[in-house]
Amino acid sequence: MIDKSLVKKRFSKSLKTYDDNAFIQKIMAKNLIGFLNRKEYDSILEIGSATGLLTGEIKHKIKCKHYYSNDLVEESKNFIDKIYENNFFIPGDIETITLSEKYDLIISNASLQWCNNLEDTISKLINSLNNKGLLAVSIFGENNLPEIKNIFNLDNKNYNIINLKQHLKKYKILCFHEEEHKLYFNSPADILKHIKLTGVNAIKEIKLTKTKFKNFEETYEKLYKEKDKYFLTYNPIYIVIENNLI
Ligand SMILES: C[S@@+](CC[C@H](N)C(=O)[O-])C[C@H]1O[C@@H](n2cnc3c(N)ncnc32)[C@H](O)[C@@H]1O
Repeated sequence: MIDKSLVKKRFSKSLKTYDDNAFIQKIMAKNLIGFLNRKEYDSILEIGSATGLLTGEIKHKIKCKHYYSNDLVEESKNFIDKIYENNFFIPGDIETITLSEKYDLIISNASLQWCNNLEDTISKLINSLNNKGLLAVSIFGENNLPEIKNIFNLDNKNYNIINLKQHLKKYKILCFHEEEHKLYFNSPADILKHIKLTGVNAIKEIKLTKTKFKNFEETYEKLYKEKDKYFLTYNPIYIVIENNLI
C-alpha cells in the first residue's frame, strides 16, 4: 500500500523547488497536450495540479470555460488560482474523494502512479466524463528510475503495465505511448538532490546512512556513468482515452 501521508509530506516540502528541477515533468506536460486531438473544452478537471506546470501549458494551448483542479496537497490551490482566476479546487486523494460533476477533459501529469489501484482510478475518472469526453494521463512506467530501484533494492511496483493494458481494452484508447529519457548529472550526490527537490522519492522513506551513501556512489560510478556524467532514467507513459464504451 502506498503511504499517502508520505506522498503528501514529500510534495508539500518540494513545492518551492519543484519547478526548477522537474525537467522531465515539464517535457511530459508538453507532450501530453500534444496528444490531445481537441484544443477546446467546456470543463477541465486536472488531477495532481501541484505548482501548475501542466496548468500553465493548458492555459497557453487549450481553451476552456470552467477549470477544476485537485491535489492531495492543499497549498496547490494557491498556485492554480494564479493561473485560472475561476479555478475550483477539490482537495484530497483522487482515489477516495467523490466527484459529483462530469467533465469534458480530465487530465493529469506525472501524478496517478501513486494510486493504490490505478485501474479502478482510471475507471472512476472515465465515469466522471461527459459523453465523448477525454481522459489524458501521463504516468511513470515500470522502468522508471531503475538505477535508484536497483541500488536501494526497491520493489515499489504498485501497478503492472500488462494488467493495465488489459484493463483498458474495454475503452476507446486514442493513445498509449511509452518513452525513455535520460538525465545527466555531475555527481551521484546531485542525483539524490534532484530526487529530493522534485519529490519523486515520495513512495518510500530511505534512511541514508554513510555506508549506504558510499555504496550508492560506488555503484553509480561502476554502472551508471557515461563519459563524465552520471545518468538517471525516466520512463513516461501517455494514455488518452475517449469516453465512448466499445
Ligand atoms: C510530480 S507532481 C506533478 C505535478 C504536476 N501535475 C505537474 O505537471 O508538474 C505530483 C502531484 O500529484 C499529487 N498527488 C499524488 N497522488 C495524488 C492523489 N492520490 N490524489 C491527488 N493528488 C495526488 C501530489 O501531491 C503532487 O502534487
